Amino acid sequence: MPRGLPAVHPTASSVDGAGVAPALDPADGDIYRLLFERHPAPMWAYDLATLRFLAVNEAAVLHYGYSRAEFLAMTIAAIRPDEDVPRLRAELVEPLDERSGPRLWRHRKKDGTVIDVLVSATTFELGGRHARLVLAQDVTEQRGARQRAWQAEKLEAVGSLAGGIAHDFNNVLTIVRACAQLLGQRVVDDESRREVAEIDLAVQRGTELTQRLLAFSRNQTLEPGTTDLNAAVAETVTLLDHVLGTNIELVADYDAELAPVRLTRTQVTQIVLNLALNSRDAMPHGGRVTLRTGRGVVEAPAPAEPVPCVLLEVADNGTGMDAEARRRAFEPFFTTKENGTGFGLATVQRIVAQSGGTVTLRSKPGRGTTFTMRLPVAD
Ligand SMILES: Nc1ncnc2c1ncn2[C@@H]1O[C@H](COP(=O)(O)OP(=O)(O)OP(=O)(O)O)[C@@H](O)[C@H]1O
Ligand SMILES: [Mg+2]
Repeated sequence: MPRGLPAVHPTASSVDGAGVAPALDPADGDIYRLLFERHPAPMWAYDLATLRFLAVNEAAVLHYGYSRAEFLAMTIAAIRPDEDVPRLRAELVEPLDERSGPRLWRHRKKDGTVIDVLVSATTFELGGRHARLVLAQDVTEQRGARQRAWQAEKLEAVGSLAGGIAHDFNNVLTIVRACAQLLGQRVVDDESRREVAEIDLAVQRGTELTQRLLAFSRNQTLEPGTTDLNAAVAETVTLLDHVLGTNIELVADYDAELAPVRLTRTQVTQIVLNLALNSRDAMPHGGRVTLRTGRGVVEAPAPAEPVPCVLLEVADNGTGMDAEARRRAFEPFFTTKENGTGFGLATVQRIVAQSGGTVTLRSKPGRGTTFTMRLPVAD
């Protein structure tokens, strides 16, 4: 036990001992206030009838960013993201089952950051009012790490599934192609020859598709390239002009002084195409897609200096995404489209992560969407 703190052992004084500090006196309100005040996790009490905060401890003030006075002027609904308030109201109607253990909630700090918290609560009477005492443990980090690990596992499973199918499918295509070639040697009339040539071409396209699937399952480590991002993006712009349609304006803004990135041209095309096609889908009545390249830094843990990186941004002024879509966007199979496969963003994330970079997204319903990629500089 650290020196300087009173012993909390309930029988310490009865054991007697000279030199043993006496147990806390439950009648000493100051000491018990300290235990609440100095508790390392955020704690508060609120009035069950008005939902107003009645008391908050120092950790709550530090962690949530509201001053004590601000807290005491708010209700507990104010630290919830708007979309969670209905669940809060619904649960408050139910009596609290204290045996069910801590519950997972999302809280909003003063600066707008949303955190995941495990909330333990107990109901009691305080000065004639029904109140609840709450202890909130921030588990955002742990949940984030677990989710990333789970995501990586899922992607790996999808990768090996895709690889297995691609492999077998390739065998089928080899047979089709061989038969088409044999047939081609036997047919004499021009029309049949043309048709056989069509079969051959279709098989070639099928083979290309299986190569892409195989590359996906092999982690794309095939050709770790170094590429001039601007040139690769410019190449894709030409492609995009054909697929975006006339009511979508395409703007490209290049930073001329870029270092090369650790991607191949094909990968850059794949990233930009996937993102721009999503933008097109999000703008059924037209709009603007902006491609931007630039220079940035990645913060490194102190004392290391921030590391320079190359930025690639794809932004649109389309429908935007709600909280659920933002959270799940990169999940394989997650799609809100009738004919979507839900692989576009998973692929983007995979390619970028393999080059050592990161993708983040900013989006709000009605406010458009921006994807930002931070790409490491190639040696
Ligand atoms: N620019 C955007 N604006 C709005 N929503 C988007 C945008 N980009 C992605 N989304 C949302 O994220 C989901 C996942 O996108 P993703 O590209 O992975 O799959 P998809 O477009 O649905 O299918 P596909 O595999 O054909 O690309 C989309 O269904 C959509 O809900
Ligand atoms: Mg897509």
